[in-house]
Amino acid sequence: MSTIAVVPGSFDPVTLGHLDVIVRAAGLFDELHVLVVHNPGKTALIPVEQRVEFIEHAVADAEVDQAKPLDNVVVTSWSEGLLVDYCTRVGASVLVKGIRSQVDVAYETPMAIMNRSLAGVETVFLLPDPAHALVSSSLVRQVAGLGGDVDPYVPREVADYLRQRRQSPHDRTSDQAPHASAANTESR
Ligand code: PNS
Repeated sequence: MSTIAVVPGSFDPVTLGHLDVIVRAAGLFDELHVLVVHNPGKTALIPVEQRVEFIEHAVADAEVDQAKPLDNVVVTSWSEGLLVDYCTRVGASVLVKGIRSQVDVAYETPMAIMNRSLAGVETVFLLPDPAHALVSSSLVRQVAGLGGDVDPYVPREVADYLRQRRQSPHDRTSDQAPHASAANTESR
């Protein structure tokens, strides 16, 4: 029987740490769905469709760069209810999450227990490649919003997008650095 796994997240934006987890998880399961999910506790910076596109492109690039077949990876989004509803719909039995620290363990444990309780979906945790152990989307947004270089932490297309957004007058308020409000809305 084939096992379908889901890597869910806000991916606002996708980081090289996410990508590392995605590529490694793709090697562990028959089918891997990367799912951009709205997190009710967060205010997003990047539109969902754009986030999906960034992940699709990053996976395609990783396939070429690492010469690894990633044709079992599907990238999509979900906004119609619980994460486990998506799992039930596509027949996924496993969720995959990256764990960088004790903070992540504390954040992920209740969700893992709830998802198993709701629908019997198990959560598998992958430890990060040390190169990406300290990278988070929220830090990337903060650094980019304040004019820092995020090239080492995200796919090039994402870094370019964040740079452009910072330069766009539409993204600025009169007394605030661009992105600053979005960067401060979440802890991870
Ligand atoms: O990247 P994030 O923001 O840490 O991802 C969190 C996410 C989106 C996976 C989480 O918020 C989630 O599972 N949202 C779906 C809502 C849901 O199913 N909640 C109940 C079970 S915990």
